[in-house]
Amino acid sequence: MAVIGVLTAGGDCPGLNAVIRGVTAHALQRGDSEVVGILRGWEGLMEGVTIPLDRDAVRGILGRGGTILGTSRKDPYVHGDGYASVSRTIQANGLDVVVVIGGDGTLKTALRLADEGLPVVGVPKTIDNDIAATDFTFGFDTAVQIATDAIDRLTTTAESHNRVILVEVMGRTKGWIATYAGIAGGADAILIPEVPVPLEEVATILRRRHRHGHAYSIVVVAEGIEPPVKTKRPKDLFGFERLGGVAYQIAPILEKLTGFETRVTVLGHLQRGGTPTAFDRVLATRLGAAAANLAAEGKVRTMVALRGSKIIAVTLDEGCAEVRGVDPELYSVARSFFG
Ligand code: F6P
Repeated sequence: MAVIGVLTAGGDCPGLNAVIRGVTAHALQRGDSEVVGILRGWEGLMEGVTIPLDRDAVRGILGRGGTILGTSRKDPYVHGDGYASVSRTIQANGLDVVVVIGGDGTLKTALRLADEGLPVVGVPKTIDNDIAATDFTFGFDTAVQIATDAIDRLTTTAESHNRVILVEVMGRTKGWIATYAGIAGGADAILIPEVPVPLEEVATILRRRHRHGHAYSIVVVAEGIEPPVKTKRPKDLFGFERLGGVAYQIAPILEKLTGFETRVTVLGHLQRGGTPTAFDRVLATRLGAAAANLAAEGKVRTMVALRGSKIIAVTLDEGCAEVRGVDPELYSVARSFFG
């Protein structure tokens, strides 16, 4: 009987519970494994805080946002001494393998622990959709839908008042949410870290649009673009800079360049909360079931991934390669609708 530990670490994301349910139900249905939940990410693995997960423990959570296991940004290499700080929990619970559901930072930590001997199966998670070796991450579709709904609503109020509204979306270093939501919401300009556009050019686009009878505009801004003025940002527990608010720097510059009243809406954590879309529920469930298979079969140092319409296994090393930026072809499609 394989004992599979499962944890969620780093920022939360709609669909985490669907993965936990997928791992647990599928592992139990196989009949050769049992599942232990590790609470609050790596922190729980360091401190030995675990709960048994059976079929009943994961009922009713498929459509629930957040994570029933909790999460944290604590890390065994930042707040402990690597494998040594988690080995007691591994032994005490008889864990044969740990399914790690996390983003780029979490998966890299998992890889370091794997180097020290921890049997790991990774499940890529982030609303940012930037993890290498997978076509999509669960949570992204939900975040895009939330951002698109917001753009739709902001468009009608921008039109009523002849305003420019900057809608700032998440996506740390990559502009996936901005590009998808911008295309879906018909944005008049989209600013992403991968393709810096001078604000003078944005102003020209907006002026041209307003001259031609559409005296309102929506500009989608990814939180990770280069800020016009560099300020020292606070860091989270993991050491990542805390982003958010760059649109507040851009708005007065655009207002000055165009002469149009310019307002800002920062969507922030709204994009991470609440119920996952049907697409994300299905993707998360499939990834969870595939992770249970790899874990039960001892295929470790691996990561489950979506390739086309299939769920496949890649090496954890492939999953930890450099994060994926927006496809230039996709951005050029978005660009045809600017202004
Ligand atoms: O990586 C996911 C993400 O939501 C980013 O888009 C964002 O910059 C970051 O997490 C925010 O993290 P936190 O909630 O810890 O501030």
